[in-house]
Amino acid sequence: MRKISFAEFGGPEVLRLVEAEEPHAGPDRIRIAVRAAGVNPVDWRIREGQVLGAHPVSLPAGVGLDAAGVVDEVGAGVEGIEVGDRVFGEGIDTYAEFAVLSAWARMPDGLTFEEAAGYPSVVETALRVLREVGVRPGQTLLVSGASGGVGSAVLQIARVRGIAVIGTAGAANQDYLRSLGALATTYDKGWVERVRHLGRVDAALDLAGSGVISELVGLTGDPRKVVSIADLGAPRWGVRFSGAAGDVRDALAEAVALISRGTLHIPVEKSYALSEAAAAHTDSRAGHTRGRRVLVV
Ligand SMILES: NC(=O)c1ccc[n+]([C@@H]2O[C@H](COP(=O)([O-])OP(=O)(O)OC[C@H]3O[C@@H](n4cnc5c(N)ncnc54)[C@H](OP(=O)(O)O)[C@@H]3O)[C@@H](O)[C@H]2O)c1
Repeated sequence: MRKISFAEFGGPEVLRLVEAEEPHAGPDRIRIAVRAAGVNPVDWRIREGQVLGAHPVSLPAGVGLDAAGVVDEVGAGVEGIEVGDRVFGEGIDTYAEFAVLSAWARMPDGLTFEEAAGYPSVVETALRVLREVGVRPGQTLLVSGASGGVGSAVLQIARVRGIAVIGTAGAANQDYLRSLGALATTYDKGWVERVRHLGRVDAALDLAGSGVISELVGLTGDPRKVVSIADLGAPRWGVRFSGAAGDVRDALAEAVALISRGTLHIPVEKSYALSEAAAAHTDSRAGHTRGRRVLVV
């Protein structure tokens, strides 16, 4: 089968489309024929050798955590899923024609493989940070970096829960944030004053890692009401850095319910062929993805 692999850490040019042995589903795992793989920032962070503590890698390595496809092997001990089912979920080396998943759910009706591949990691992260920041219905959450994959999920789940959101994004994404029910402002000069003008902030999420932790603490008045997923320096301000993935199966079950009710939709910014993985990484790393980028296999 064909897969994307890299033999040394580095820029997007280290990614190669290679012939490789097919993986097989061990106990408690399934194998899918991948139809689409989600491109997450962590994929290029791993390729660059940035996050090896959380994601140990032995070279040569495959790429990709998220995928959607058709089940073609079911491992020992797995129940409730059959060969031929359409699933989305998380696993390893998903930029490939076949991949083994460790967490999955059946795809809701009406979702394409391309769309489905964009959900697993962003929904797990969004549910986790909403839990950790402790924001309640009726309160207002400030989201710095609200238009990306994680931000898109946070805004929609907050709306379902009756949490008001003020989001920051680039000028091109102001209407997008409003379409997701948030108040919106840009993140350029004067943003703190513009946020104050929009209303009181009870809790805040840093999803962009753009060096705004002290401002978020100032706006909430309490470092315990701020969580970052993108700024490793956050603990210096007494702010929690959220890094450990929660329960992906529970997150997928919640995603299915929200998608089926029409209350969660992560748009696909752009689709790429498997052979264009390097371009997808370059574009993701530029830091202005609305929703998710996806490789079509
Ligand atoms: N710790 C964890 O568990 C975890 C989990 C998932 C992701 N992450 C990290 O969290 C970050 C976000 O992930 P993602 O998947 O949502 O990324 P993404 O889809 O690439 O989105 C990045 C977003 O950042 C926004 N942005 C760029 N510059 C900004 C600035 N100066 N101020 C505010 N927003 C800005 C962009 O908005 P515009 O396009 O509107 O400019 C874009 O929507 C990444 O760094 C990722 O590695 C961490």
